[in-house]
Amino acid sequence: MNIQWNENYSSGINLLDLQHKELVKNINNFLCLDIKKKKITECKKLIKLVDQFIKVHFKDEEDIMKKIKYDDIKTHEKRHNMLKAELNLFKSQFKRKPLDKIVVLEFSSFLSSWLNDHLYTEDMKLIKYIRENYINV
Ligand SMILES: [Fe+2]
Ligand SMILES: [Fe+2]
Repeated sequence: MNIQWNENYSSGINLLDLQHKELVKNINNFLCLDIKKKKITECKKLIKLVDQFIKVHFKDEEDIMKKIKYDDIKTHEKRHNMLKAELNLFKSQFKRKPLDKIVVLEFSSFLSSWLNDHLYTEDMKLIKYIRENYINV
């Protein structure tokens, strides 16, 4: 399932909005990955990029939540940690054995629906909080 960016995702915080747009783009690229046609090294590079980008974004978003003293930070951080654990598990599979096409396809669809859901729920709650409290970050 492709993720579509729309203005409802906009928080007014530049860093957050730019990262969310970039995240949607990266995930969609990952989802379009045709592992049958592409080289394994290319797939691994894309997986590494998505993994690094997500971790940087989560860290930056958590810093913003701390800075504005967001009241639901614990729940939000817990969700981030759950996905980071899934990403680490997914990556560790390729250390032990060669890249499995089915695993990559399944994981890309899991990642896409997870992030779509996260953007609509936890991130939207945070965005609403920022908007309602007119916070300048
Ligand atoms: Fe988040
Ligand atoms: Fe986010």
